[in-house]
Amino acid sequence: MPRETQGVIAGGKGEPVRLQTIIVPDPGPGEVVVRVRASGICHTDLHYREGAINDDFPFLLGHEAAGIVEEIGDGVSNVVPGDFVVLAWRAPCGSCRSCLRGRPWYCFNSRNARQPMTLSDGTPLSPALGIGAFTDYTLVDAGQAVKVNPDARPEAAGLIGCGIMAGLGAALNTGNVQRGDSVAVIGCGGVGNAAIAGSQLGGAHTIIAVDIDDRKLAWAKEFGATHTINASSVDPVEAIRALTDGNGVDVAIEAVGTPKTYEQAFYARDLAGTVVLVGVPNPEMKIELPLIEVFGRGGTLKSSWYGDCLPTRDFPMFIDLYLQGRLDLDRFVSETIAIDEVEDAFGRMERGEVLRSVVVF
Ligand SMILES: NC(=O)c1ccc[n+]([C@@H]2O[C@H](COP(=O)([O-])OP(=O)(O)OC[C@H]3O[C@@H](n4cnc5c(N)ncnc54)[C@H](O)[C@@H]3O)[C@@H](O)[C@H]2O)c1
Ligand SMILES: [Zn+2]
Ligand SMILES: [Zn+2]
Repeated sequence: MPRETQGVIAGGKGEPVRLQTIIVPDPGPGEVVVRVRASGICHTDLHYREGAINDDFPFLLGHEAAGIVEEIGDGVSNVVPGDFVVLAWRAPCGSCRSCLRGRPWYCFNSRNARQPMTLSDGTPLSPALGIGAFTDYTLVDAGQAVKVNPDARPEAAGLIGCGIMAGLGAALNTGNVQRGDSVAVIGCGGVGNAAIAGSQLGGAHTIIAVDIDDRKLAWAKEFGATHTINASSVDPVEAIRALTDGNGVDVAIEAVGTPKTYEQAFYARDLAGTVVLVGVPNPEMKIELPLIEVFGRGGTLKSSWYGDCLPTRDFPMFIDLYLQGRLDLDRFVSETIAIDEVEDAFGRMERGEVLRSVVVF
């Protein structure tokens, strides 16, 4: 029987989100229904509400979630009902040109549920990042449900499903941070602080946190930043150079998503260094850089989608590091809230009061 439940819906550009009745179909072949236990609020949910991702309203928001597999469709073999899973917005197809080249972490044709979840009048919903997890039940492709150790708290485990994975992977996978490297992270929200935690796991020697909010910088220290810079009072490029013998850092990670902070990351890195863009810009934004600087500085300019993660490899591993006390996921959980408090929590995110508000069910 299709499930009738409540979901957090963004109905139109810039409109406050509302709790509405939604219909979750029974799982078809290759699909699973997951009972969501916890779902974090990522800045990308707000981007959806603002119409900055695309115009496919109405959106069912939420995409950073952990839950229990409730029901599986025909042919599903990777999970069974009762499994504890983190939901992934990358489920490699195995047959696109990237998967076939042995690079499933770039999969160009990631799998999602084929049946739509709908409003009660039948209007199909666009689930955020192909998930839609601010709801008691959600329908996803079985490949999006990644089994992890059930000892992990859902509030913490779910965070690996998006922003925290994006930050960890921006440092460890895309930026390839190595023992002894110097790293700067510009923007220390959930994603940036995860990049700081990832840089520490990778063995970075110097980790410079840059933000415009002192609260974020205090948290960054707790995640492993060795130095902090408030970019509203000093020029962060000069300050980063001053902390690195005038050279700049090996890896500069941009976790805000604006031209100005991207430019700062570009100029704050050492010769032959790497810039990683993990912040999501809006479609109107443009950058202008002297081409001679792009050439003359050498190195690498990369973008990081989802931290170039392979969920089946990385999610269980990071959950295990968490359970071993080597990755403090709990520290990212600033507050737990009820499903009807998402709109208010967006405000707290915009005001910089939280790293992650997590909806619990
Ligand atoms: N690439 C990916 O796969 C991926 C995944 C998740 C999120 N994201 C994106 O990463 C970005 C960060 O997400 P989040 O959830 O951490 O958001 P957040 O709002 O929690 O954090 C953004 C941080 O940037 C800081 N900031 C704003 N302007 C700044 C400036 N000029 N200089 C320095 N710091 C500044 C803010 O104070 C805040 O601490 C967003 O754009 C989000 O959409 C990307
Ligand atoms: Zn693929
Ligand atoms: Zn996200």
